[in-house]
Amino acid sequence: MFQQLEMAPADPIMGLSAAFKSDANPNKINLSVGVYQDASGQTPVLASVQTAQERVLAAEKTKSYLSIEGSSEYGAAVRELILGVGHEAAERAITVQSPGGTGALRLAGDFLAQHLGDRSVWMSEPTWANHPKIFASAGLRVETYGYFDARANTLDADALLAALGQIPSGHVVLLHGCCHNPTGCDPSPATWRQIAEVAAERGLLPLVDFAYQGFGDGLREDAVGLRALGDAGCELLVASSFSKNFGLYNERVGALTLIGADAEAALRALSHLKIAARTNYSNPPAHGAAIVCEILGDSMLRRQWEGELAEMRERINRVRQRLVARLGEQGVGRDFSFIERQRGMFSFSGLNAEQVEVLREQYAIYIVAGGRINVAGLTEDNLDYFCKAVAAVS
Ligand code: LMR
Repeated sequence: MFQQLEMAPADPIMGLSAAFKSDANPNKINLSVGVYQDASGQTPVLASVQTAQERVLAAEKTKSYLSIEGSSEYGAAVRELILGVGHEAAERAITVQSPGGTGALRLAGDFLAQHLGDRSVWMSEPTWANHPKIFASAGLRVETYGYFDARANTLDADALLAALGQIPSGHVVLLHGCCHNPTGCDPSPATWRQIAEVAAERGLLPLVDFAYQGFGDGLREDAVGLRALGDAGCELLVASSFSKNFGLYNERVGALTLIGADAEAALRALSHLKIAARTNYSNPPAHGAAIVCEILGDSMLRRQWEGELAEMRERINRVRQRLVARLGEQGVGRDFSFIERQRGMFSFSGLNAEQVEVLREQYAIYIVAGGRINVAGLTEDNLDYFCKAVAAVS
């Protein structure tokens, strides 16, 4: 049966991490997958998560199933985190607990494919390598809109707004809530308001991938975009991930929040989302979401977590500054100052395919094709090696 199968290509992001692990070069650096590393190159369990986990385990009485849509307490906590306290849109919102942010996106894809007819999902060019595959696997047509000005290394807001103005009514627009992956370039609050106006006016359905809340400018600041969409009265889908901001990568903690035109419509949508969840994975894993609930529901733990999140964010911003300074010291001719203006874990470095390949083959530096680097993978121990290598290939 399986003999005729050819080898499938490795995943463009996870595949690099696998190759990195088997690389024997002692100087190797992994700047591929979006996993936070601290100044010593570790990805530690956050102290707030450790305490919450101990409490969850001590209080646990059963391993019985959660309901298909997951914990209602978790759903309420997620809605409050993304919308803030008392946002009008929360009244017309439901949340389904999902296995990670990817699980939430796939749930949205299956739901849209089954119930919204012949519509496309429009995504930025470029976008996270897994986005087109998730929606194509769900049977949806994928199209792209202009987003990035490669020459200036910035968001091309005019191109974005013009493209949104051409997307047919009822189609789905995938937006990155903050920390755009892979470019690190986000719309300003004013541009978000314009996006929301166009989306509401044209009857587009925004699907916000919100995987990095708190990694850009802060928990509230990073939510301005999706709140602007809610303020404009849009119906909306939000895929949250708590892999990065709680460091709960392997617990697979995510959520899909659907904001309908009114509460009844949201409840009807929930009945269909439950079928999509049931036929995919039946019901969600409990442990990671229980940790998130424990932290968000306890003021002391929440303060501690917000402090730890700020520490991660601030370290990344410091690394951005050092990286630009050290590249300058290495005499790299190009102006890399745009790296300091990007937000989140990633920087679209401007390195081309050939340079990325030479960095991997000759220096054991692993970067995603397209030139995306995970800034959090740089430490005082490897920064000079990295900058010298970039200088050598530039
Ligand atoms: C990334 O873009 O590196 C992360 O979102 C991890 C992943 O699943 O690809």
